[in-house]
Amino acid sequence: MQDLDRIRSEALAEIAASQSLEQLDAVRVAALGKKGSITGLMKSLGAMSAEDRKAAGAMLNAARDEVSAALDTAKAVLEAGALDSRLARERIDVTLSARPETQGRIHPISQVMDEMSAIFAQMGFEVAEGPDIEDDFHNFTALNIPQEHPARQMHDTFYFGEKADGSRHLLRTHTSPVQIRTMVANKPPIRIIAPGRTYRCDSDMTHTPMFHQIEGLVIDKTTHMGHLKGCLMEFVTTFFEVDEVPVRFRPSFFPFTEPSAEVDIGCSREGGELKIGPGKGWLEIGGSGMVHPNVLRACGLDPEVYQGFAFGMGVERMAMLKYGIPDLRTFFDSDLRWLKHYGFVPFDVPTLSGGLTR
Ligand code: PHE
Repeated sequence: MQDLDRIRSEALAEIAASQSLEQLDAVRVAALGKKGSITGLMKSLGAMSAEDRKAAGAMLNAARDEVSAALDTAKAVLEAGALDSRLARERIDVTLSARPETQGRIHPISQVMDEMSAIFAQMGFEVAEGPDIEDDFHNFTALNIPQEHPARQMHDTFYFGEKADGSRHLLRTHTSPVQIRTMVANKPPIRIIAPGRTYRCDSDMTHTPMFHQIEGLVIDKTTHMGHLKGCLMEFVTTFFEVDEVPVRFRPSFFPFTEPSAEVDIGCSREGGELKIGPGKGWLEIGGSGMVHPNVLRACGLDPEVYQGFAFGMGVERMAMLKYGIPDLRTFFDSDLRWLKHYGFVPFDVPTLSGGLTR
């Protein structure tokens, strides 16, 4: 029992000196474990006289409780410290950009479609979709292009095999069938854009068999050609991020609009550099017009009540003009060097508030 004081104070000193939970546990085992020093003294009680045992037992219990309490306190302190240091160690700075930086790039086509959608969304347009594989009705007939209409030849359509009833599916030659699908499925007022893939059997310097268009459609009771022009003027200044872009309507023909107009924007070519804005030149960016009464009728809308405009633009062309991409065919070469050069960082999502392009 003479050892008790020494054992107790040694254990307390070791507890105070413990730097880790492991060290602390080793002290616990050495003092209070099965073969621990205090446990050893407890065992020696049995050999004592009843009187001695009483006194020694009380001292031993007091020493054991003291060591045990010191262990608990030290453990709580070390645990709190371990948590703090772990929190500090595992701290993540969410303001840092991802490391390693993402390698992928957003294709200019996707970027430009996102930019266009952001602009039109701000004006209150919804994004609508239709299938790439269309039928005759949606791609042609409902758009006032009947069976033997010469416009069908003009479209260089990719057809699928004939079905039992003689009809053939086709790859849509423009995004205009989405006009039909939208008007059939929804009641006016309608205000949609439809970006997507289109296909024509045509391949040379300035044509690829697959390309992209964005369609616009507004139908209500009062929308007129002035709204169409205002809408497109607003769009081009925002899209090209310049203060002034002249917009010109050139009389044209489309079976599904009446009147119809080709849309040109102003540009200058000084020193061989093409610039969008006021200048001597004009560039065509798409077709437009007031939706033809026959088209409204084909969708079950009364042309005496409803009217509106539609437009269609080529996405590749807009991308080439905005980002100075000289060759259409490179869009679909899947050349990584090209993508690295002309592509966009994935996290830079175009918004009007945050900036279309950064
Ligand atoms: N669909 C026409 C084209 O592909 C473009 C267009 C759309 C014209 C809507 C007028 C109205 O050439």
